[in-house]
Amino acid sequence: MTFKLGIIGTGWIATEFVEAAHGTGKYQLTAVYSRTITRALSFAEDYDDVELFDNLDEFMTSDLDVVYIASPNSFHYQHAKAAILAGKNVIVEKPAFSNPKEFEEIHELSVAHNAYIFEGARNIHERAFTTISDFLSTKLVVGADLTYAKYSSRMPALMAGELPNKWNAAMSGGILADLGCYLLYSAIGLFGKPRSVRYDAQMVPGGVDVSGIGVLEYGDFNVAIKTAGNLTSYLPSEIYTTDGTLILDGISAIQHAKFITHDGEKIELKIKPEKNHLAEEAADFAEIMTGASTDPELFERYESWLQLAHKVCCTSYDMRKHAGIHFPADD
Ligand SMILES: NC(=O)c1ccc[n+]([C@@H]2O[C@H](COP(=O)([O-])OP(=O)(O)OC[C@H]3O[C@@H](n4cnc5c(N)ncnc54)[C@H](OP(=O)(O)O)[C@@H]3O)[C@@H](O)[C@H]2O)c1
Repeated sequence: MTFKLGIIGTGWIATEFVEAAHGTGKYQLTAVYSRTITRALSFAEDYDDVELFDNLDEFMTSDLDVVYIASPNSFHYQHAKAAILAGKNVIVEKPAFSNPKEFEEIHELSVAHNAYIFEGARNIHERAFTTISDFLSTKLVVGADLTYAKYSSRMPALMAGELPNKWNAAMSGGILADLGCYLLYSAIGLFGKPRSVRYDAQMVPGGVDVSGIGVLEYGDFNVAIKTAGNLTSYLPSEIYTTDGTLILDGISAIQHAKFITHDGEKIELKIKPEKNHLAEEAADFAEIMTGASTDPELFERYESWLQLAHKVCCTSYDMRKHAGIHFPADD
């Protein structure tokens, strides 16, 4: 089965997703919505038979199985709602929603309308994540330091006094919502929801965090997270166990994972990264849409992603509140 795919938002990540989706052989780009028809045209120029829209209501009447939403964060809720009400399945970029209230409303709507809703948290769909999770399942974790900090292409505009969507509270932006989302997915995917959280943030005039350091408290151990968009960190991430330390070269797009025992023995985990980092999530979502209605195991996997997504959303919200970051979408 090939899923007819519609796209909202025409940034580079949408192009990456279409390439990844086509690479699975399970999707066909069928419609593009942009605020301007010229952008829709240039987005779709490499593909055949794509309908172009600059009117969202008309886009939603198009014959689509699934809509991929890569608009600014604060628009995800209204775009997902419109898609579900139009009978489409939804893949929404991370962070899926601005706060738990939006998340829960869209989840309920998806259940009522028999639609699937997926969050594009690519790092937990990488096979590397399963490899790491399986490896840790026999270990006792005593702590972790997780880092994702990368100088943003939107920094120069911010420094010039502009307000890019990424650094704007009105767009539910900030670095915790962006790169921090991957850190929370890793931590919560591996260790569960923390008992309590703290987050110290460096703020920018748009009312959001440009960098921050957080602590997730699990009772027996803590996980420290470090994220930033105003600098690049080359630090690895580390997970500490009673047997030794697992060292990861990243928190998404992981290429190397090495365990060093207390005796100094080195064990390389077998990681085979995909060229397109969205390939594995695109394949996973297609598998669910194809089979979860008849295969309870697949449906359970889908539900587990939703539960994880909800925990990440709630944790991110709590950390944001701890740092005093407010989004207009919270009102
Ligand atoms: N998974 C990943 O690796 C990854 C990577 C990057 C981004 N993302 C996520 O993808 C989403 C988009 O990020 P981005 O950096 O591409 O954002 P962006 O450039 O600010 O906006 C994305 C698209 O949304 C539309 N748009 C821009 N401003 C808008 C506004 N004020 N009102 C309505 N539509 C607007 C534009 O498309 P049109 O001009 O065609 O309407 C634009 O190309 C975010 O949720 C982000 O977290 C994920």
